[in-house]
Amino acid sequence: MWATNLKILGIVLGTLALYTLIANSIPQVESEVPQELSFTGEVSAAELVAAGEDLYAGAGGCTACHGLGTRAPNLLVDAGGQGAIGARCGQRVEGESCKEYLHRSMIEPNAYVVEGFQPIMPDIRRALSEVQIWAVIAYLQSLGGEVTVTGDDIATAQSASDVETADSGAAAATVATTDPLELLREMQCLACHMLGDEGAQVGPPFAGVGSRLDTDQLRESILDPNAAASPGYEQFTGMMPTNFGQRLTAEQLEVIVAFLGSQR
Ligand code: HEC
Ligand code: HEC
Repeated sequence: MWATNLKILGIVLGTLALYTLIANSIPQVESEVPQELSFTGEVSAAELVAAGEDLYAGAGGCTACHGLGTRAPNLLVDAGGQGAIGARCGQRVEGESCKEYLHRSMIEPNAYVVEGFQPIMPDIRRALSEVQIWAVIAYLQSLGGEVTVTGDDIATAQSASDVETADSGAAAATVATTDPLELLREMQCLACHMLGDEGAQVGPPFAGVGSRLDTDQLRESILDPNAAASPGYEQFTGMMPTNFGQRLTAEQLEVIVAFLGSQR
């Protein structure tokens, strides 16, 4: 984890002001190094691809579905004889370039649903900023194709998200609700955790979690998921996104903690 963070830090400047602001709004939190990407000046394709790979395996939550069994198409290797995603992306939708197709797959995943799969992929803007999304696209293109994401895509995304941040005063990918069930759905917790019959079992089911963990441990599991491995799920440590501290308000966090605490 440390090495990954250093790698991200090396190529990326965290938006420190935002980070401090949010860290202050949540009590007693040791937040992770911010994963918000902010490329300054010229960024090389190799830097983008490296950042995208980290996001794909980490904060993006992609590996919860892609690469595990048959829930989602494998992006890293051939699927259906058309090559890895970087090779097949340009042939999916008539008139859509590889880059356009991949961007739409992230922000409107149901616009085109790959044959044989369910439309379960979430809008990735809930997990990643536009800039981060472009980095992931560069990484996907590098898998069997040519990276055509440029500094222009990043610059456009950055100015758009500056406007968004100024408008809302909050980080991208947040929601307003304080209803616990809605939060678990909107924040994609149920993409990896079962709650009753709902959700998917990638991480530990929420049933009984209030007996296993006390309030402090619950808070830590959400804010700093890699600090303590859940018994039986050690091999999945590192899969849960580490940016919930930035995406949840202090109130929303407490709502979730109280709700999970009541699952006995
Ligand atoms: C909850 C499960 C889930 C998560 C999380 C998820 N996906 Fe998907 N994804 C799917 C499924 C299912 C499909 C196939 C159906 C469709 O096209 O929507 C898909 C399709 C895709 C496609 C099109 C594949 C093709 O062969 O044309 C791309 C690209 C993609 N996902 C990228 C990503 C990336 C990048 C992430 C992380 C930022 C991600 N997905 C997260 C389930 C998921
Ligand atoms: C991409 C998959 C993924 C997402 C999304 C995700 N988690 Fe997790 N979560 C995991 C995995 C895997 C573990 C077990 C490994 C570990 O401890 O890091 C875990 C562990 C936990 C634990 C500790 C459970 C125990 O029994 O020890 C809690 C609590 C938790 N997650 C809550 C949440 C909440 C709340 C959200 C949404 C705000 C969320 N998770 C989103 C994958 C995910």
